Amino acid sequence: MLKMLFGDFKKQPFNSAKVFPNKVYLRKILYEMKTNRTFTMIKPDAVENEYIGPIIEKITASGFKIVALKLKKLSIEDAQEFYSIHKGKPFFDELTAFMSSGPIVAAVLEKENAVEDFRALIGATNPENAAEGTIRKLYATSLSFNAVHGSDSNENAAIESAFHFTDKEYV
Ligand code: CMP
Repeated sequence: MLKMLFGDFKKQPFNSAKVFPNKVYLRKILYEMKTNRTFTMIKPDAVENEYIGPIIEKITASGFKIVALKLKKLSIEDAQEFYSIHKGKPFFDELTAFMSSGPIVAAVLEKENAVEDFRALIGATNPENAAEGTIRKLYATSLSFNAVHGSDSNENAAIESAFHFTDKEYV
């Protein structure tokens, strides 16, 4: 990894940024390294309905490799922090109460174009609008109880993965 970082690093033109060019370029490399990963949660409704197995099977059959995985229960504070981007929205309280109501499965998935491909696999946020064969069409019951979460950008995938997993928890 270091060889990769410093190999590419040497190719960087040093006059391209006046302020901390090395740090900027290193951050860019690390950011690009994340583009093949996304973060997902199997939500409490799907865990309760015993859909962990079928959902994981669908994910792996679609070409995603699981690189981190755990079953856990979020506290209300965990859920409020994880979904802080939605704070102030009318559904925030319901969402965070639901997400802390029972166990969830958190996972980091690897595949080329992971974020976009995974969002296609899970389908629209509201299962009523989800395409046939998508995870939400198959296993979700409503907009609020929509079975799975998928990161909406590479940046959020990195942030959300770091919320649930330490570096040592990756295989
Ligand atoms: P998710 O993509 O995991 O992230 C935010 C969640 O809020 C979303 O899935 C839905 O389950 C839930 N939610 C509830 N009501 C709404 C709404 N009106 N618009 C968007 N998301 C909603």
